[in-house]
Amino acid sequence: MEVVIVAGSVEVGAFAAGRIAEIVAAKPEAVLGVATGSSPLETYRALAARRDAGLDLSRVSAFALDEYVGIAHDHPESYHAVVDREVVQPLGLDASRVRVPDGLAADLDAAAEDYEAQIAAAGGVDVQLLGIGGNGHIGFNEPTSSLVSRTRVKTLAPATREANARFFDSLDQVPMHCLTQGLGTILDAKRALLVAQGASKAHAIAQIVEGPVSSMWPGSVLQLHRHATIVIDEAAASELTLTDYYRYTVEHRSIVQPDA
Ligand code: GLP
Repeated sequence: MEVVIVAGSVEVGAFAAGRIAEIVAAKPEAVLGVATGSSPLETYRALAARRDAGLDLSRVSAFALDEYVGIAHDHPESYHAVVDREVVQPLGLDASRVRVPDGLAADLDAAAEDYEAQIAAAGGVDVQLLGIGGNGHIGFNEPTSSLVSRTRVKTLAPATREANARFFDSLDQVPMHCLTQGLGTILDAKRALLVAQGASKAHAIAQIVEGPVSSMWPGSVLQLHRHATIVIDEAAASELTLTDYYRYTVEHRSIVQPDA
């Protein structure tokens, strides 16, 4: 894994947006994997600034990682609404090219299968942006998720519902279930770019970067990805042990090893 440590959340967003911009510049019809949550917001802000400066995002398509089951698409905290508000509008994406799993489908298993088929039909995800939960989840792949899982229904961990209760009026209103891309789906993306900031993510980051590959820390599956980059601020890096080495590798990143 490539571990990039920068000063703070603005720098995390700037670095991640730079990576995405390189991919879109090389392939204007790139397929982006987009994440919800607070972690990627600075990345979207920085990408919006790049768009204002001339980056053409009009031909990209995007797939969201996950969606709650059972809340209306126009509920402000449905991921349909969040992706529209935080990603589609500020980046000026073509909404017809943006997909979010259908958590209202009568047949959720069929909707999950259909989502996988849509990703495949688009040629796969070129770069998957990810945040991470305090318990190590990526997407909504909670601890003990199968490392080869595909898009499916999951039951949210109580800790995740509590963490996300801040977006709802009360804990009771946080859905119990979700549709989420699986860890295997995420691994299929050509690039993975995980962003995290703040001390509350430090333990999860240490586990997924330096701990064993384990379904107990689902983000650790990224150790099996050929091109995974972890972009973190100093606070999120504070429980890592090899920080000197990560800084050294970034400083000595050579053009003969572009994907080290
Ligand atoms: C949410 C999302 C994840 C996100 C994570 C962390 O529940 N399903 O995709 O990465 O939790 O959220 P935040 O970035 O707000 O800490």
